[in-house]
Amino acid sequence: MNLPTVIVTGGAGFIGSAVCRYLVSNQIANVINVDVLTYAANLTSVEPVAHADNYTFVKADICDAEAMQQVFEKYQPDGVMHLAAESHVDRSITGAQKFIETNVLGTSVLLDAALKHWRGLDKEKADTFKFLLVSTDEVYGSLGADGLFEEVTPYDPSSPYSASKAASDHLAIAWHRTYGLPVVISNCSNNYGPYHFPEKLIPLIILNALHHKPLPIYGDGSNVRDWLFVDDHAKALWTILKTGELGEKYNVGGRNERTNLEVVQTVCRLLDDMVDSTPEGGHESLITYVTDRPGHDARYAIDATKLENELGWKAEENFDTGIKATVQWYLENESWWRPILEQKYAGERLGL
Ligand code: NAD
Ligand code: TYD
Repeated sequence: MNLPTVIVTGGAGFIGSAVCRYLVSNQIANVINVDVLTYAANLTSVEPVAHADNYTFVKADICDAEAMQQVFEKYQPDGVMHLAAESHVDRSITGAQKFIETNVLGTSVLLDAALKHWRGLDKEKADTFKFLLVSTDEVYGSLGADGLFEEVTPYDPSSPYSASKAASDHLAIAWHRTYGLPVVISNCSNNYGPYHFPEKLIPLIILNALHHKPLPIYGDGSNVRDWLFVDDHAKALWTILKTGELGEKYNVGGRNERTNLEVVQTVCRLLDDMVDSTPEGGHESLITYVTDRPGHDARYAIDATKLENELGWKAEENFDTGIKATVQWYLENESWWRPILEQKYAGERLGL
């Protein structure tokens, strides 16, 4: 197929797998999924496209310079979507070093491999090559009650995770300014949707509630996150890779701010309606307030005007429909989450 070839790092993770499914099933790109398969990876998340002609999986570590060079030499990509990372704030509190290794060192190794590849391209290919670094709004730190994160908001990360992501953003911009590598950066708010590893709030709450286990809310539940359906993020990333201006940053978000308590209550009410076995007092009776996360950012909220106005992307899903579809997906896909609960992560508290 005469499609552009794109390396997607971290394509066996939550968002990366959504990117792979989107690009492969719509025949938008020839996808090379580069993933080392950490605890967070799951090849069943890419099973729907795994046998397509325009999909290839390569098990490799972004920290391994030789392996990365080989991937670029073998597949001669027209672009890179870099999502591979350690992604969970609570795990970064328990142990920061892995986050520095993967998110900072790994990104620098990948940037170097991309630079070597880009320098060897003929002019026409070099002019269209692009490296998209997929980042987070958490680099901006915490908002108060008002205001939104804009692309010009100063970086002020709070957790080892967000500090490591901020560092990788700075590296990507440095590789652009210093070496001319065609780089673009996206900073997205909290994602939710199918195939989400159950260490994160929404899938943790869905699965705990299904098992009538306590639903842990950190602090008083008033912290606000701005939720984006994962498939909207995947589309935004392709839009940014295709049409984003070099050296620019784009915030990605769908204007769906909710307090954590609101999110958990919504999941509980949906489950009250959708499952037969509801605990006495409803699923909300399982809510349990627990010790707050250290350094817990109060509020994230994205201004996505630049992406909407300049590149024409807009979130299609709103939280009310997206969360219902997500709960439904977990109810129908026990075969996806059961092995994770039994073999990888059973819902224990992390990051205290
Ligand atoms: P995830 O933890 O679900 O998946 C990460 C993937 O990266 C896994 O498949 C893992 O095996 C792979 N990986 C980790 N280290 C690797 C290495 N050294 N070499 C190769 N592969 C490696 O993460 P996610 O939630 O899908 O997030 C993807 C990206 O998007 C991350 O960069 C994250 O910072 C960013 N992001 C996430 C969110 C969110 O809400 N989840 C929001 C904004 C941005
Ligand atoms: P999380 O899904 O870990 O994403 P992030 O920390 O990247 O925003 O957490 C989302 C919010 O939910 C955050 O404010 C912490 C809170 N939270 C809980 O209240 N209870 C939990 O069990 C978890 C995992 C998170």
